[in-house]
Amino acid sequence: MSNRTLAILKPDCVRKNLIGQVIAKINEAGFKVLALKMVKLTGDSAGGFYEVHKERPFYNDLVAYMTSGACVPIALEKENAVEDFRKLIGATDPKNAEPGTIRAIYAESIEQNIVHGSDSDENAAKEISHFFSRKELLENNGL
Ligand code: RTP
Ligand code: MG
Repeated sequence: MSNRTLAILKPDCVRKNLIGQVIAKINEAGFKVLALKMVKLTGDSAGGFYEVHKERPFYNDLVAYMTSGACVPIALEKENAVEDFRKLIGATDPKNAEPGTIRAIYAESIEQNIVHGSDSDENAAKEISHFFSRKELLENNGL
């Protein structure tokens, strides 16, 4: 079991000025921020990140959404990080998300759902390296 996961505060989170509130919830749930940046994804970067969904009918909309404004990728650390973070954010569709989860509180729809969380340890490692170099992760560790 790995102790890291990747979160992305998606463009709707940034547009609605919810960066601070969502990070506060993440910290309150016991996650430590290892590295964080604000980026505007290109189509190639967003498309590559969500490559597993390439054949899905929502893929083009997903890439358009993820490139519609700035995002905030965050590398997080906690015991059982992947599973605990998925629990904290709730189901993909906020209508089905447990009350009190980040998506239940802040998200508007299945398309615009505020936050991403890695779905396996293997993908967490890949996704963290999509956004952060080893140097960035090492430099910030322990601060
Ligand atoms: P994420 O990867 O962003 O954490 O979301 P997830 O695991 O809960 O859901 P996933 O199935 O991986 O879908 C990725 C993102 O695509 C958009 N989506 N739209 N219109 C639709 O039916 C639909 N389904 C998914 C959402 O932004 C979802 O988070
Ligand atoms: Mg996913």
